[in-house]
Amino acid sequence: MVLVPQPRHYCGMAISTRRIRPDDGQLLKKVRLAALLDTPSAFGSSHAAEVQNSDERWVELAAERAEGSDHATCFALDGDDVVGLVGGHRLDAETVELVSMWTDPSARGRGVGAVLVDAVVEWADGSAVELWVTRGNDAAQRLYERCGFTVTGDVQPLPSDPCKDEVRMRRTPR
Ligand SMILES: CC(C)(COP(=O)(O)OP(=O)(O)OC[C@H]1O[C@@H](n2cnc3c(N)ncnc32)[C@H](O)[C@@H]1OP(=O)(O)O)[C@@H](O)C(=O)NCCC(=O)NCCS
Repeated sequence: MVLVPQPRHYCGMAISTRRIRPDDGQLLKKVRLAALLDTPSAFGSSHAAEVQNSDERWVELAAERAEGSDHATCFALDGDDVVGLVGGHRLDAETVELVSMWTDPSARGRGVGAVLVDAVVEWADGSAVELWVTRGNDAAQRLYERCGFTVTGDVQPLPSDPCKDEVRMRRTPR
């Protein structure tokens, strides 16, 4: 499914989303590395790991996520400026996993996160959406609850810092 830009207005700021394009490798690198540096405790991966990706690898990742129903990455845009990022991976015929959710600190608190969740839900095309959120990341967990996710009871160590736990959440299709 193609993610068509859909402007939504929050506090006077029009946010749209668009799916990544095959030529967005450098943009993906910039935004993803900024996210990993900004909030290391929020992600299963780390800046130290992903900064080692070659430019060719970022180009491959952008191409892989630009088309099809197995993987997708989506940017949130304020005009031409990228203010957020989210990803989706298909786990099976009924379930998609939401990953890599990040809003640029300059754009937080304005509903960008909900717009990014909507983009993945739309791409999921009727499938359930699941995610891991680090225990104690209350802003993220409240955002997901507002978007219809509930905790499943599953808990696992955060892969990038096993001293922390992450909590599984799921949104069933309506
Ligand atoms: C979690 C996150 C994606 C939410 O994005 P967002 O676009 O700010 O979402 P919202 O606009 O719905 O705001 C979320 C909460 O942050 C609060 N907030 C407001 N201004 C804020 C600011 N300047 N900085 C941080 N949080 C702010 C909001 O009031 C809201 O709190 P509430 O739930 O009590 O109402 C964002 O905070 C983020 O990128 N965090 C770091 C990465 C992360 O945690 N990702 C989730 C991985 S599972």
